[in-house]
Amino acid sequence: MYSEKVMDHFQNPRNMGEVENPDGVGEVGNPQCGDVMRITIKVDDQDKIEDVKFKTLGCGAAIATSSMVTEMAKGKSLDEAAQISKKAVADALGGLPPQKMHCSNLAADGLQKAIEDYRSKTPQK
Ligand code: FES
Repeated sequence: MYSEKVMDHFQNPRNMGEVENPDGVGEVGNPQCGDVMRITIKVDDQDKIEDVKFKTLGCGAAIATSSMVTEMAKGKSLDEAAQISKKAVADALGGLPPQKMHCSNLAADGLQKAIEDYRSKTPQK
């Protein structure tokens, strides 16, 4: 039912945990299942995501998409990272079963929220 990439990211999640002194924090919950995730980001002075980590209390698909979204966001500018959609995350994982597509909302939304949080706290250049 799951692609090899999903299984890989589920079994060996990348960037799990929390960055120290985060510049932005995004917390989202999935109303459909009650799962939650938290994304923390560190932003450098070029507005690039220097580090990003996640904590997810959720199903395997939520863990795999969280792991993938951190890999996709790392090193990107905030503008580029803000463009990462849940579909892009699911595609990068080789697809998700239709009934699990909602799980990828958490990862993409968590990242967006962390970026918004950073922007709301930081005077824009
Ligand atoms: S079932 Fe809750 S995020 Fe997947």
